[in-house]
Amino acid sequence: MEAGMVAQTGIRAWFSARAPHYDTLLTRIIGETEMRAIAALIPRGSQVLDYGCGTGRATLALVARNCTVTAYDLSPEMLEIARQKAARAGASVEFVVDEAALAGRQWPVVACIGVLDYYRDPAPLLRTLAGYLAPGGIIVTTFPNATSPLAWAYAAGSRFTFPAIPRTVASFRTAARDAGLHISRIRPVFPPIPYLALTIVALLVPAPRHE
Ligand SMILES: C[S@@+](CC[C@H](N)C(=O)[O-])C[C@H]1O[C@@H](n2cnc3c(N)ncnc32)[C@H](O)[C@@H]1O
Repeated sequence: MEAGMVAQTGIRAWFSARAPHYDTLLTRIIGETEMRAIAALIPRGSQVLDYGCGTGRATLALVARNCTVTAYDLSPEMLEIARQKAARAGASVEFVVDEAALAGRQWPVVACIGVLDYYRDPAPLLRTLAGYLAPGGIIVTTFPNATSPLAWAYAAGSRFTFPAIPRTVASFRTAARDAGLHISRIRPVFPPIPYLALTIVALLVPAPRHE
C-alpha cells in the first residue's frame, strides 16, 4: 500500500472513533472564528464541494451563505454527525458517503478545510481536488502555519490524536505546483497576522501552462 493510502486508513479510523466527541467547546470557539474568515472568501450562492466535511462546520457556514453544498468525508461516522446537524438546522445538503459518487462531477468551488493538515505530502490530495474543479473555479483550502507558535502548540497536542504537520507558504506553493495548481491568494487567520496565524487559507487555481 502506498504512503497516502496508509495515511488515509489511519485518518479514517481515528476520526471515525472520535466522531461522537469531535465537537468540543474549544474546537467550536477556534473553529467558528476561523470559519467566519474562510467562508467570507467564498462567494455567496456558490455551488461548493466540501471535501472532508467532518461534522459539518464549513458545510453549515456555507449553507448560511446561500451556497448549494455537496459534502463528502472519508469517515462515514463524521459525515453522519454532519447529516444530523444539517437536518436539525433544516439545511438542504447533498451528503456523499462513497467518493465514487463524485466521479465525473465538477464544482465552481472546492473547499477542503482542515484536511491537508494530516498529509506529509499534500500534492496527491490537491491533485484529487483539482479533478473536481469546474473551469474557472477555485479551491479553498487550509494548512497549519509553520511560522506560528500557535500552530506548533496545535501540532504538539495532535501527537496524542492524529499528528498534524505545520508547513510554510513556500513548501505549500511547491506542493500546489506539483499538483498543477497556483496560489492566487493567501490569507492568515486566527489571528489574522501573517507570522502568528494558526491557519493559512489558500485560494488555488489551475496553474498557467508555463509554470
Ligand atoms: C479536522 S476535520 C475537519 C473537518 C471540516 N472540514 C471542518 O473544517 O471542520 C478533518 C476531516 O477530514 C477528513 N479527511 C481526512 N482525509 C480525507 C480524505 N482523503 N478524503 C476525505 N476526507 C478526509 C477526516 O475524516 C475528518 O473528518
